[in-house]
Amino acid sequence: MNSIRTPKRRLITSALPYANGPIHIGHIAGAYLPADIYVRYLRSMCEDVVWVCGSDEHGAAITLRAKKDGTTPQEIVDKYHVEMQEAFSGLDISFDHYSRTSSKKHHKVAQEFFLQLLKNDSFEVKTQDQYFDEEADQFLADRYITGTCPKCNASDAYGDQCEKCGATLSPTDLINPKSTLSGAKPILKPTTLWYLPMGRHEDWLRDYIENGMLDGIPHHNAKAWKSHVVGQCKSWIDGGLQSRAMTRDLKWGVPVPIEGAEGKVLYVWLDAPIGYITATMEWAEKNGQDWKDWWQNSDTDLLHFIGKDNIVFHCLIFPILLKQHGGYILPSQVPANEFMNLEGAKISTSRNWAVWVSEYLESFPEGSDTMRYVLASLMPEQRDSEFTWLDYKDRINNELADVLGNFVNRIVVLTRKYYNGSVPKTPAPSSLNNVDKALIESLSKAPAKIGDLISRHRFREAQLEAMNVARLGNKYLTEEEPWKVQKTNPERVKTIMYLACQVVGNLGIVLEPFLPRTAEKLRVSFGIPQAKWSDTSPNIVNPDTILGDLPILFTKIETETIEAEIAKLGSKDDASDNENNSNIMPIKDSTTFDNFTAMDLRVATVTECIPIKKTKKLLQLTVDTGLDTRTVVSGIAEHFSPEDVIGRKVVLLANLAPRNIRGVESQGMILMASTSDGGLRFITPEEGVNSGDVIS
Ligand code: MF3
Ligand code: ZN
Repeated sequence: MNSIRTPKRRLITSALPYANGPIHIGHIAGAYLPADIYVRYLRSMCEDVVWVCGSDEHGAAITLRAKKDGTTPQEIVDKYHVEMQEAFSGLDISFDHYSRTSSKKHHKVAQEFFLQLLKNDSFEVKTQDQYFDEEADQFLADRYITGTCPKCNASDAYGDQCEKCGATLSPTDLINPKSTLSGAKPILKPTTLWYLPMGRHEDWLRDYIENGMLDGIPHHNAKAWKSHVVGQCKSWIDGGLQSRAMTRDLKWGVPVPIEGAEGKVLYVWLDAPIGYITATMEWAEKNGQDWKDWWQNSDTDLLHFIGKDNIVFHCLIFPILLKQHGGYILPSQVPANEFMNLEGAKISTSRNWAVWVSEYLESFPEGSDTMRYVLASLMPEQRDSEFTWLDYKDRINNELADVLGNFVNRIVVLTRKYYNGSVPKTPAPSSLNNVDKALIESLSKAPAKIGDLISRHRFREAQLEAMNVARLGNKYLTEEEPWKVQKTNPERVKTIMYLACQVVGNLGIVLEPFLPRTAEKLRVSFGIPQAKWSDTSPNIVNPDTILGDLPILFTKIETETIEAEIAKLGSKDDASDNENNSNIMPIKDSTTFDNFTAMDLRVATVTECIPIKKTKKLLQLTVDTGLDTRTVVSGIAEHFSPEDVIGRKVVLLANLAPRNIRGVESQGMILMASTSDGGLRFITPEEGVNSGDVIS
């Protein structure tokens, strides 16, 4: 089964982020940048597309955060609703509309939706014993209760989920349950809840997920769904779909609009996805459109961009709700991403192990395109990926600056030098040699190739292909050497330069989804009015165009700059803990015994130590390994002075490949313990352990 039909319009959503903390690059790489690339491409294809998002302002994520900060949920969401939007716009994330779920409008929309579900007999109402915290005077669901996971024995599973093993849980599944509000052991007390009996929907859901069929009619191309998305849904369905409570006994949220249900609100995962509908309504109203065209017309394709922790809600629960309500279309694609790790560990708010977008932009005010580029290069499309600052630096220096920036700069400089900045005349077809023809052919094919990859949500590869256009140009210049030929055959150089200018012109369009600022600079300078995909062509730049000013596109990143960024990780006194109540680093992914034995760890003694000039963090140590004496550069100067270090016995990774750090060759690494309070300590061997002793 191939493409079912060509949709008339596309409605794109990105997961509504909880308004309980700032946005980090993991969020961006997961649900926002991929959607932005996709939507920018569709816009440039002149497709009818709307992209909505907004702040998710209900649920325990918000109320627990408010409690911790000693403030109200409203104050928390007001603050982050503004901050999150600033972060998004700082990275040129171009939603058509950004809404919020605490608004009156949304409450009304969500309540009406709920009432229709009620009418359609979608719920089972059950009065059952639930955990209750007598001290806090509150029922405990979701993150309000923790205990031991019945599946994996982790000690800190939540009432709705175990983050260790990923199991979905109910509070009553937990062993030794404890209230997160007071730490008290909860009592059981009866309350009435509205449950969604998911089991009733198993058959059609299976057909929808596995075959892309809905009510016996082809609905979408199921093969185009990512295997990890389908896999997660299948394993839920295979595990037997349980009823899930759709109301909560809480004060903060959308009140359940039923008489006698005072003190109850809608489950956040019921109201939040309805926020997509509210957002579309608001957008439609502002733009003189009918929102129903976007939600209730089978000519529309609905796509949800999310992170993998949201898969079941978007692929199973929300579709059930939409179908039960009636009249709504269902998502035809849920291109969920996996997680992006950071410098070897899981991104964690509580440990401040994150790159916060707002802080990033303070350090790199012009850094939107560069961060977008690196994140798209590392996008966790099929599996988890990892961001490192070294990679950030390398990609900017070696790819953006050396390939793209350098290429464009050469064209601009030569065009100015040879032709006063005016693009040469279109060469006669008869004057083109085979190299030119090959360039033209590759250039003609690139936009469709890139577009096809974007359509299939393969953004990493798509960006690579777009950069290959710049590589193509670079190679052409290097081979044709216009700066040499100019002396002997200036006519030939006109052809070369004309074609090279065309490469830049096309880059101004095909880079737009990935590097919108850079692409715009190229278009402005090369006289291209708009980013319209259909304008790409080997003659896109008109002859006689006078090239506008184009300053250096990318400046190279210094090692010191990224060292400063790395130093920020994990160190913040007021690190908020809305994840676990500990600052302990989670265990890294498993490694092999061979990897372990490949490391030569041994005891060494520090004999000399001096600071490295013009750095704040670095000390240069001389260590005696028992076999030799070597130099090691260590980033501990903010924690220790040379006197603290000389004479110490330390643990040395002795066979780490030598690295040049600020002009000093470092021949190994001293192992340190990062303490949970953000400090750094030596690992000191006990008495009787001497230099040269091997650790295994
Ligand atoms: N706030 C949720 C999260 O950050 C995502 C909500 S998506 C929506 O995980 F569909 F519910 F809006
Ligand atoms: Zn578990």
